[in-house]
Amino acid sequence: MGIGVLRKYRDYLPVTEDTPLLSLGEGDTPLVRSNRLGPELGCEDLYFKLEGCNPTGSFKDRGMVVAMAKALEQGSVAVMCASTGNTSASAAAYSAYCNLPAFVLIPKGEVALGKLAQAMAYGARILMVDGNFDVALKLVRIFTEKHAITLVNSVNPHRLEGQKTAAFEVVDVLGDAPDYLFIPVGNAGNITAYWRGFREYYQAGCCNALPKMMGFQAEGAAPIVRGAPVAHPQTIASAIRIGNPASWKSAVEARDSSGGVIDMVSDDEILEAYRLLASREGIFGEPASAASLAGLLKHHRQGLDLRGKRVVCVITGSGLKDPDLAVSSVAAHTIEVKPTLEAVEEVTLSLVS
Ligand code: F0G
Repeated sequence: MGIGVLRKYRDYLPVTEDTPLLSLGEGDTPLVRSNRLGPELGCEDLYFKLEGCNPTGSFKDRGMVVAMAKALEQGSVAVMCASTGNTSASAAAYSAYCNLPAFVLIPKGEVALGKLAQAMAYGARILMVDGNFDVALKLVRIFTEKHAITLVNSVNPHRLEGQKTAAFEVVDVLGDAPDYLFIPVGNAGNITAYWRGFREYYQAGCCNALPKMMGFQAEGAAPIVRGAPVAHPQTIASAIRIGNPASWKSAVEARDSSGGVIDMVSDDEILEAYRLLASREGIFGEPASAASLAGLLKHHRQGLDLRGKRVVCVITGSGLKDPDLAVSSVAAHTIEVKPTLEAVEEVTLSLVS
């Protein structure tokens, strides 16, 4: 039974006697050992952390449950966030669960259909902004400073507190930290949260080592790699289409103190990883999620020796969120047949030989 991150990791979270221990069953997501890609890369110990298995299909639920519990504890009347889609889906779900209205600002025309459908279904008030994510986040920050509505983007410290529980789970399952953690980077909150989680567990004596943090931005939205904000970020991975990450500094800190890298991958590399993940591993992640595997493939090609290393790729969200892309980017394998046994036999038997 999913007891949720607030109960499971309450000793590591800002939980007081007055914090409601909410849960939609977030956390406790599978860490799946690679069956095909790992061995092909010479890495017998490659794992995928399936964050798409959270209640709203992304890792955002881990932090949202904490942010929402604290908002309730503090007597908030409503929450607000800007989002490329997943944060808004998560905020909308927990808002419905807690009966606390949610206002979500999303860049018009830039959010994957499944995520928009979620925010609508959960009943959030959706404000379509004629501008990108960075513009929407700026508006939300200014608005929530001026009005008594709780900001639930990852600049709210409770969000990252919840998200760090994913690092705890990796260690709980593996028995120690991995050598490398590959992760997509957008607003840079998640890489910050994982690093905090590993460090806290290390300090508590729950692991004996720390991973190298390997973060990946999309080439057209790679401000940290380029060292300057990107005014008009572009990438097929709409979740990480972000030009001025809020947690920029702490992501760089995670990179440097772990001895890792923050690098970029092209849309082609993201799509290649997206297809491989589904067709070789049976894992359907959304395109932004595939940036972690794309980064691993890129560094392997560049000579990173993975033999004897334990590697975790975080698959941050479900592929079901962006069905349009799946249908348009994967070579169609549908075959029309007449509704007869002979027709089905003819096609099938010619393909199994
Ligand atoms: N992967 C997915 C599926 C995401 O939705 C996001 C961010 C990231 C990776 C990057 O994580 O921002 O912590 O570096 N999505 C945010 C949103 C921006 O609004 O849903 P990050």
